[in-house]
Amino acid sequence: MLDLLVTNATLPDGRTGMSVAVQSGRIAEVTPGLAAPAHETVDAGGQLLSPPFCDPHFHMDATLSYGLPRVNESGTLLEGIRLWGELKPLLKAEDLVARALAYCDWAVARGLLAIRSHVDTSDASLLAVEALLEVRRRVAPVIDLQLVAFPQDGVLRTPGGIDNMKRALDLGVDIVGGIPHFERTMSDGAISIQLLCEAAARRGTLVDMHCDETDDPLSRHIETLAFETQRLGLQGRVNASHCTSMHSMDNYYVSKLLPLIAESGVSVVANPLINITLQGRHDTYPKRRGMTRVPELMAAGVTVAFGHDCVMDPWYGLGSGDMLEVAHMGLHVAQMTSRQGMRACFDAVTVNAAKVMHLQGYGLAPGCDASFVLLQARDPIEAIRLRANRLKVWRKGRLLAETPAVVTTLTDEKGPRGVTFVMPPRP
Ligand code: FE2
Repeated sequence: MLDLLVTNATLPDGRTGMSVAVQSGRIAEVTPGLAAPAHETVDAGGQLLSPPFCDPHFHMDATLSYGLPRVNESGTLLEGIRLWGELKPLLKAEDLVARALAYCDWAVARGLLAIRSHVDTSDASLLAVEALLEVRRRVAPVIDLQLVAFPQDGVLRTPGGIDNMKRALDLGVDIVGGIPHFERTMSDGAISIQLLCEAAARRGTLVDMHCDETDDPLSRHIETLAFETQRLGLQGRVNASHCTSMHSMDNYYVSKLLPLIAESGVSVVANPLINITLQGRHDTYPKRRGMTRVPELMAAGVTVAFGHDCVMDPWYGLGSGDMLEVAHMGLHVAQMTSRQGMRACFDAVTVNAAKVMHLQGYGLAPGCDASFVLLQARDPIEAIRLRANRLKVWRKGRLLAETPAVVTTLTDEKGPRGVTFVMPPRP
């Protein structure tokens, strides 16, 4: 007797009429038209069954703090960092935990079950680190929460920055972070990358750095990061987040850079909602979009994923933990409008993000965790178009969240009828 059987599902790879059998929290079988006894059988009705959404770049210590102690008037990255600096001395651990847990509820409701969050280590008290370690313990049954030790004010620029980073890792933070473009000089940025990658190599941890989050075409820390990755044998263990300067770089230089990134096995996370909002702020017109070169990186063989980065914090006043909204913006900003491009944007918030995060047991295949989301959409492209409703969210075979199907009732001379924004079949 199976624990759960989902029938008549469409999978992201296009297979239809599929059954997914679940036993003891894992996927036992994925096959067309399976009929087997189960404690619970769910007819997917031909809708899309996807592995859960994953957010490979977030700041959970700042989330839902919008307006504290004031809003970001200029809308720039630098005012956001200043504002966060004003808020930090006012932070209380219990408030931070409460906000993060509230966000995790939103995430689960949206089928977002894995999050990599940076946590600011600039403050010697490590208050935010302790708070997010507590959050990681509390949400472990529902969310894979990874923490990155992130020296927001620059690991070299902050007195005691390196020591704070070490202490955060000793306390149980998973990954080494960095912010080379915020160090005082370009050479200090390069030194910070070298020091941080060496620390990660010694400790055997992954690396995830904010890298070149600027419109400066000469901010080229990604080159140093790729080089250090190769030098230290960290291939496949390093992620570069943002890389917005690549948007503005010289094309010849990028033609040399892309193979270096691919050879080094460095993955890249773009953050479309935040990049399109924060970048180009020093431009008049035309205003640069600022997002990194997503389709070109993908074509070069680099794993590229999309992150949410911020939800209602000093940098961004919107968001709700919806990775389909992230994919929707990424698709537009990168002009990935081909069928293949749109599907790649769905991958950027699911399988690619899981790869960046080194998630184990992820996917819709026998032996994987029985964690998946039933969407009110027939395929990944429709899911992005509609920012589709999450009908059901399961983790390891356990139902975590349900949302009723969204149907709007129109009433006209023929009486009431439902509208779901699904394209009707061609006559
Ligand atoms: Fe970030």
